[in-house]
Amino acid sequence: MAARGWRPAAAAAIAAARPGGGGPGPGPGSGSGSAPASEPVPEPAAPATAALYVHWPYCRKRCSYCNFNKYVVPAVDEAAVRACLVREARTLLHLSQVQSVTSVFFGGGTPSLASPRTIAAVLEAVAGAAHLPAGAEVTLEANPGSAGTPRLAGFREAGVNRLSIGVQSLDDAELRLLGREHTAAEAQGAVEAARGLFPGRTSVDLLFGLPGQSRDAWTRGLEAALGLCDDHVSLYQLTLERGTALAAQVWGGALPVPPQDLLADMYQTARAMLAAAGFRHYEVSNFARKGALSTHNLSYWRAEQYIGVGPGAHGRFVPWGEGGRSREARVQTLEPDAWMREVQSRGHGTRRRVVLSPLEQLEEVLALGLRTDEGITHERWGQFSPHLSLEAVFGVPGEAKDLQQQGWLVLDGGGLRCSWEGLALLDSLLPDLLCQLQHRWALPAALPRPGRGAEEKPDGGQGRWRSRGEHNGLAGVVSGGE
Ligand SMILES: *[C@@H]1O[C@H](CO)[C@@H](O)[C@H](O)[C@H]1NC(C)=O
Repeated sequence: MAARGWRPAAAAAIAAARPGGGGPGPGPGSGSGSAPASEPVPEPAAPATAALYVHWPYCRKRCSYCNFNKYVVPAVDEAAVRACLVREARTLLHLSQVQSVTSVFFGGGTPSLASPRTIAAVLEAVAGAAHLPAGAEVTLEANPGSAGTPRLAGFREAGVNRLSIGVQSLDDAELRLLGREHTAAEAQGAVEAARGLFPGRTSVDLLFGLPGQSRDAWTRGLEAALGLCDDHVSLYQLTLERGTALAAQVWGGALPVPPQDLLADMYQTARAMLAAAGFRHYEVSNFARKGALSTHNLSYWRAEQYIGVGPGAHGRFVPWGEGGRSREARVQTLEPDAWMREVQSRGHGTRRRVVLSPLEQLEEVLALGLRTDEGITHERWGQFSPHLSLEAVFGVPGEAKDLQQQGWLVLDGGGLRCSWEGLALLDSLLPDLLCQLQHRWALPAALPRPGRGAEEKPDGGQGRWRSRGEHNGLAGVVSGGE
């Protein structure tokens, strides 16, 4: 729904930092089938929990800047889509053997165009196939154009308890430039309606760095948003995506490119304003007060398991139900009609699955964990790297030490995290940190001793180690539905 400027950067950082640019190649972990180990690693118990992302692929209108997986069709066969979402959710929950779903997120596309009945049916399926605790966070992304009070009340009735509203801007000219179908007044009305029904649990999305937007226009817009918003705000820098109308206009010279230093200034000004308004800057793009953090998205940044349902949805989980023992990156078929046919014939529309090597998993733990103000705790790192501690990787002379001396990175009893100053620079710090991780990982101490360590298991034709996949997988970590 929104542009998320950091995604390509994070994915590109991983690809660039990887020797051989991310090609298969015999990486250090290759062929061992296990994390570095001096003792055989006992098989972990099936992880009991996962977050669940559900992608609704349809929109009423194409926004000028959006290249997400979305479709504008004259008529949606909602009953058929609903049946497929329900069936795929059941299949994948069964496959993961997850006992409890910690949160559900309906994204898109424009999921507020789905009927509350569809949302309810998916939630019932989830609750039937796994436990869905009473207080579990259930978020729906809503566009101001489809978020009147009766509709929103229907979603609440269906089980939604948190809304994320795609306001983007409170300026009519900016909204037109973005090709949004709502006006500023409608956005305001939607937020007010949402806050009435979901008090303390309404988030607003805002975009900055629009072509021609001045620093003052941005701060005025943010000021207005602060007067309107609840306790959660997401700020995204507009990125020009190939194939979008807006990018064509900018690249064709019809609209100005926002200068880098202005973008940096807009971001810094915004985080200062939000901090002054009592918001905690808990993730690169996200701000919350009164503890209203998004638990769903935190599970991505904490590298927990998540299951993606719907066209183009991404997931990360261990398919215990079919004997899998390794975390996989999974992507569902993009195109809704093709996806539906696959779900109808085999219960799910998983198009690609790649077993993530231990190093790849750590790269994600690092790249995602550093996005948050809590960073990566020793405990979480240890879950993915039982034999090579955070200190062993980042506490030794090298890039990370330099970054600590600059005051951008902190490694202490809490773990590894960015400082307030460092968080704004994350995209430029990451490549060095990923390099350091890869180099430390390749040192002999990190490798399993010959003859010891976990034995290699037949890979069951899953392509273990064979393919590193594309690291747009990482994009999916957060976008869920690209
Ligand atoms: C949270 O995750 C959803 C689903 O993947 C994504 O669409 C959304 O942009 C994320 N929101 C934030 C606040 O990062």
